[in-house]
Parts: sequence; structure tokens; C-alpha cells
Amino acid sequence: MPNGTENKTESALSEFFARDHGALDGLLECVDFADAERALPALGEFHRRLERHIVWEEDVLFPAVRRAAPGFIDGPIEVMRREHREIRARKAEALELLRGGDGAGARERIGVMRSIMNEHTVKEERVLYPFCDRLLADAEAERILRLLESSPA
Ligand SMILES: [Fe+2]
Ligand SMILES: [Fe+2]
Repeated sequence: MPNGTENKTESALSEFFARDHGALDGLLECVDFADAERALPALGEFHRRLERHIVWEEDVLFPAVRRAAPGFIDGPIEVMRREHREIRARKAEALELLRGGDGAGARERIGVMRSIMNEHTVKEERVLYPFCDRLLADAEAERILRLLESSPA
């Protein structure tokens, strides 16, 4: 039974995380802020999936990189963590505004979040993930992928 990791390529981690970025973009595009009541559960689903993605990075990928190369990219990882905090803060504000029925306000907050996220995503996809793929031995990358792929949807 193929599990997606059997033919691990040299860019398996990059591909996995970039695919999740694409899924997140798709979820966000489905949010219609003109209808605050319907936008709330849609943004809630995006929120849930983005939190999962950030936890994958902060609790699984970054610690694996640190174990493999202690101190080597602490700076870039700290930048990623800081950007996650920014992204989370703007997302939380948008959810709060939507709960209060303010679709326009939520759209504006999400616009700010999106511009932070776009730059963040480019850095991850162009620099961080390829670095992880090069750094982590096949067995470790496969362990990470198996772990992430088996996490709840
Ligand atoms: Fe990230
Ligand atoms: Fe990411």
C-alpha cells in the first residue's frame, strides 16, 4: 500500500510542505468575507489547518534540523518563529472580527496576514525546506514524513 514516502525523492520534505501551503491557499480562497456568518466556519477550517502546519514546522521539522546541525540555522528558524507569531496574531484578530460580524474588518486583517505569509512561504520554499532536504538523512526525512502523514487531517 503506497504511503507517499516509499519513493522518497531528494525534495520530499519540500514537496510535502509546499503542497500543504497550496492547500492552505485554497482554503483561504474559499472564504467569502461578504457573508460574515458563512465566512466564520470557512476561516475556522483555514485556522485549524494552518495551526497544524505551524505545529509540524515548530515541533517536528525545526527540532529535527537543530538535532542534525546544532546552532547552524538558529537565526533563520527564529525568524520563521517570529513570523508565525505575526501570522497567528493577524489570524486571531480576523476570527475575532468575524465573530462580531465584521467581514470587512476580517478581510483587511487577513490581507495583512497574507502578505506576511506570502513572504514567509517564499523563504521556506526557496531556502528552508531545500536546506532541510539536503541536511536530513533519508531515514530521518522519511520518519518525519511518516509522522506528519499519519497525523489527523
Ligand atoms: Fe512556516
Ligand atoms: Fe510552511
